[in-house]
Amino acid sequence: MPDPAIAPLKPPLKWAGGKRWLAPKLQELVQGITYDRLVEPFCGGLAVTLSLQPKRALLNDINPHLINFYQQVKAGLEITIPLENDSDLYYQYRQAFNQTELPSALSAQYFYYLNRTGFNGLCRFNSKGEFNVPFGRYKTIHYRYDFSDYSQLFQDYQFYLGDFDQLVVGKQDLIYADPPYDVEFRQYAKEGFTWDDQVRLAQWLASATGPVITSNQATPRVLELYQALGFQVMTCLAPRRIACNGDRSPALEMIAMKGMSQA
Ligand SMILES: C[S@@+](CC[C@H](N)C(=O)[O-])C[C@H]1O[C@@H](n2cnc3c(N)ncnc32)[C@H](O)[C@@H]1O
Repeated sequence: MPDPAIAPLKPPLKWAGGKRWLAPKLQELVQGITYDRLVEPFCGGLAVTLSLQPKRALLNDINPHLINFYQQVKAGLEITIPLENDSDLYYQYRQAFNQTELPSALSAQYFYYLNRTGFNGLCRFNSKGEFNVPFGRYKTIHYRYDFSDYSQLFQDYQFYLGDFDQLVVGKQDLIYADPPYDVEFRQYAKEGFTWDDQVRLAQWLASATGPVITSNQATPRVLELYQALGFQVMTCLAPRRIACNGDRSPALEMIAMKGMSQA
């Protein structure tokens, strides 16, 4: 159970699809639920875990640089390379990052720097697997050199790299799953996560024996999918995202739950 006396920690990285805004709602939903461990199959920027701060957690993502960064933080990462919001330094470090193999503390240092300094905190690779995000042009950046408050918290957290369905989850685990959004009317799937993956995830979550919460974009087919599998489904307004076509209409978020009644 999360300790209510703990102040939420801000995610150390910028991450697309971060759910900091949803954390108070999730906190409310899990109140009264007994669980031993929080499982996040799509942990991303860790906004939810760092808000709930459970004693134990199993945190998984398919991005190897993200998981390397968290593993290095857990092991006591300190930044020893100079960090400056400078375009020449950015491209120099970007090249060095692309030549550094994982797992590595140095790669985690570069990753942190590129994430904070690059355009919009994007994490994007070209067909050769090279990180290719341009310099970000921020006015000021407050870099961290020490991650000891995170590393203390991470001591009973396990970080896994891989597809969500290789995780072994038990009855005492609370799952919060935040996959890439379903994008119904586009040719490509966000971060390569296809509709088949959405269905595979919903079935995997339906077969879990403990409590489950998942969030997604509330597209008609996502709502139907979770309703058909017996989840309790609700919607709420997500913060406004400005689409390329200038549409500022608020997006509707789905929250689907099951197995939440045990107190
Ligand atoms: C919406 S983000 C999660 C954001 C996170 N909840 C937060 O608050 O920062 C989705 C994450 O799923 C990861 N991902 C995509 N496909 C995956 C897969 N098949 N298995 C596990 N993780 C995956 C992406 O790397 C990304 O970090």
